[in-house]
Amino acid sequence: SCLKNDYEGHGQKVSLPAAPLSLAIPGPPSLPLLGNMLELMQEHLPNHLTALARRYGNIYRLKFGNSTMVVLSGSDIIREALVKKWSDFAGRPHSFTGDVVSGGGFSISLGDYSDEWKLHRRVVHSALQRSTAESLHSVIQQQALKLRQVLLEYKETPVDLSEDFTVAASNVITTLAFGKQYEKTSAELQRLHGCLNEIVALWGSPWISALDTFPLLRKLPNPPFSRLLKEVSRRDDIIKTHLDGLKLGHDAIKEVGALTDFLRCQNRPEEDTQTLKLTDTHVHMTTVDLLIGGTETTAAWLNWTVAFLLHRPEIQHRVYEELCSVLEARYPEYKDKHRLPVLCALVSEVLRLRPVAPLAVPHRAIKNSSIAGYFIPKDTVIIPNLFGAHHDPTVWKEPYSFKPERFLDGGASLRALVPFSGGARLCLGESVAKMELFLFTAYLLRDFEFIHPGANECLPDLTGVATVVLKAKPFKVIIRPRA
Ligand code: HEM
Repeated sequence: SCLKNDYEGHGQKVSLPAAPLSLAIPGPPSLPLLGNMLELMQEHLPNHLTALARRYGNIYRLKFGNSTMVVLSGSDIIREALVKKWSDFAGRPHSFTGDVVSGGGFSISLGDYSDEWKLHRRVVHSALQRSTAESLHSVIQQQALKLRQVLLEYKETPVDLSEDFTVAASNVITTLAFGKQYEKTSAELQRLHGCLNEIVALWGSPWISALDTFPLLRKLPNPPFSRLLKEVSRRDDIIKTHLDGLKLGHDAIKEVGALTDFLRCQNRPEEDTQTLKLTDTHVHMTTVDLLIGGTETTAAWLNWTVAFLLHRPEIQHRVYEELCSVLEARYPEYKDKHRLPVLCALVSEVLRLRPVAPLAVPHRAIKNSSIAGYFIPKDTVIIPNLFGAHHDPTVWKEPYSFKPERFLDGGASLRALVPFSGGARLCLGESVAKMELFLFTAYLLRDFEFIHPGANECLPDLTGVATVVLKAKPFKVIIRPRA
């Protein structure tokens, strides 16, 4: 049936066209049994879902058996769902494989919306805010100087920097979380990153997600799934040993870390913690959330920045000149941000072109609602295609070109930039990440020039590899210290 909206306008009763609430959301034709499953088995999913948006619009649906997934590929439509109607779309889909990696839904990132989840997120958020205000700046500066030392030792030989970026980003998180930092060669760090990387890569693979859509497949042998189980158990052993040590006071705590705060808060019953108790499993999964959410994302972003700068070396010279003229000889601080527009434009443009969590994390409608006038029934899975929103040709001129200058002189608007998503599920580490991206980039570009190794090496591929995190393919770079 047609829903008619009437309103009083200029003293006249006007009939608006039938609202599309009764219309079906557009989408590609679906195959019997498989539905649109094949659409999800593409090598670069964010690119593919963005190409579908050009054909079907910024809201379209994909079908799997009886369930429907709605993909949102424009920043306005993403804001409507996640920010304006945040309480309708704050859920996470329940999934078999999600339970496996989140200790049964106890993580913040994969836990469903509930009173317990709200308390968990609130406690971790305020602990993170406090340590951001107290110590984050000096923790990042310390890691940036440590990274500088490592880069100096390469003495202009071509290197792949991805591991060094991972160690720097990971040390920021482990220092905040439990006051500990590692050397690149530390066996514990290698083990931890080995299994976190594997978990992220395996969990994003179609062989594993097929188990959620087709439960019968769980009865068949599935080597990638067996590997996932093994890596999850390795991850849990490492973190448990560490947290047990922390509880018993074995680990030297050099900084007052967020997690320490969090643990203390657990033992101090306040109004709501009396009725809802956060357990050791919550603490455990918070560590996983911060490590997974805060390591590969930041490291991948730094790697993308170097990759893009090799394609347009003149941009790094502009940033360098800006740093020299504004700061003279001193190192930058976060409060210099407003005086360094070229550097900020570079950060924004890399976030736009390569939002490192390109499809965010799937949301779930927790009640019947609507998006762009279309009816969205409870339990519909919503995919915020942040990559698509950042390549929307109706918003961005030459959306596929690397042009930091678009953010200068009142050009492109930051409003359409949604790399951290929004609403109830806004990235929990947004303020940590923003300070890291700014300070790491400023320190690196103040002290070094990044140079393409030349004839025998191709310029870095800019397509990347997309799992849950969008990463650059391995490439080498020469790092020349500035005079
Ligand atoms: C979630 C982006 C760094 C912790 C997310 C989401 C995005 C995102 C898009 C999904 C939001 C949604 O579901 O709608 C990024 C980017 C980063 C970054 C682009 C850096 C460049 C960090 C850091 C931390 C962190 C440094 C930790 C300190 C988390 C957590 C969640 C999350 C815990 C889950 C939030 C929830 O489900 O409520 N992030 N992130 N992220 N991020 Fe980040």
